[in-house]
Amino acid sequence: MSRTRVHVLRALTIGCLLAASIARPAADPAEDHRVRGWTIATQLCIQCHVIGRGPQAGEFVGPAFLRVANMPSTTGMSLNVFLQSHHQRMPSLRLDRDEMDAVIAYILSLKGTGPARP
Ligand code: HEC
Repeated sequence: MSRTRVHVLRALTIGCLLAASIARPAADPAEDHRVRGWTIATQLCIQCHVIGRGPQAGEFVGPAFLRVANMPSTTGMSLNVFLQSHHQRMPSLRLDRDEMDAVIAYILSLKGTGPARP
């Protein structure tokens, strides 16, 4: 391969890498937080709740998060209270402050989107 060809290839590669980094949305702490909440939900909540907007296979004892998000009574505060109190049917999950905030941010992000299922 000729030297110029190597240079052109290298320039192209760098160009592509640059384009990819520009195309990616800028680091958004709120979005990172929400994605973290989703990750936690996939680990700790998914066996009892439908956590996303799409269908999820299985039987779920808890309400879908989409439905929770769209209940008029649901706010960051109400979710905080719920997740910090004891329940008969839902186990108390020991989430630290940041994990709880992230999960709440995730649930609230489902608000207003998609059909609220009964
Ligand atoms: C072992 C099953 C189980 C797991 C695991 C579980 N839940 Fe639940 N959850 C339930 C049940 C059952 C209910 C409905 C009964 C109730 O309200 O206590 C419920 C209700 C809820 C509600 C509804 C509150 C409302 O206002 O009606 C929220 C919010 C919730 N869960 C969040 C979570 C989150 C977040 C996680 C994971 C970090 C999680 N749950 C994990 C069983 C579970």
